[in-house]
Amino acid sequence: MIHLSLLPATQIEEFYPTFTKVIRTQFPGYGPEVIDFLLNRMYNIPNLRIWVQRGDKIIVGAKNDDTFVGFAMIDTLYGGVSFCRWLGVLADFQHKGIGTKLIHEWETIARTQHAHKMEVAGQPTAKVFYEKMGLGWEGNRKASYFGIDQDLFGKVLGSPDPSIMTK
Ligand SMILES: CC(C)(COP(=O)(O)OP(=O)(O)OC[C@H]1O[C@@H](n2cnc3c(N)ncnc32)[C@H](O)[C@@H]1OP(=O)(O)O)[C@@H](O)C(=O)NCCC(=O)NCCS
Repeated sequence: MIHLSLLPATQIEEFYPTFTKVIRTQFPGYGPEVIDFLLNRMYNIPNLRIWVQRGDKIIVGAKNDDTFVGFAMIDTLYGGVSFCRWLGVLADFQHKGIGTKLIHEWETIARTQHAHKMEVAGQPTAKVFYEKMGLGWEGNRKASYFGIDQDLFGKVLGSPDPSIMTK
């Protein structure tokens, strides 16, 4: 039984092994030095704790019974846009609808925050998935951050609202 929840800072440690496994195994475009930087210097436990505590990032965790099997990591709203920084599901749990549930939860969060748009940059293999989720393809960028090609996807939720964009 899959259950989604918003992670409090106190659950980061429990969540972290799943996060590292997904980053190490599901993003083959990143070489070892980049993975080391991402996990040990950037998205390490202390930083994730602080970001979640401050509300800089929202992590939606997907648990199968008591074990984390997937997640969406969403940036704080910026300029009225909700950006999903990471989305991943452990290989053994893919194609079971977990990614779909995570996208739906992200949309609920974005709408609750009155975002006018959702955006994500994905590795090329995720194109079919995002388009199926109703996020339109908005172009690609070559050799982007950390050297990988990325496809950009977005979904407009409403009209840009100055009071939200400047909050
Ligand atoms: C992309 C990802 C999050 C999708 O999660 P998931 O739990 O497998 O997604 P779902 O089961 O909800 O898939 C819904 C539909 O999307 C499509 N889909 C999902 N992953 C796909 C893939 N890798 N290739 C092609 N189509 C895909 C399928 O049509 C799927 O339906 P089906 O399983 O009935 O065929 C997961 O494959 C993943 O973690 N990939 C590696 C990391 C990644 O690429 N993250 C996103 C880009 S940054």
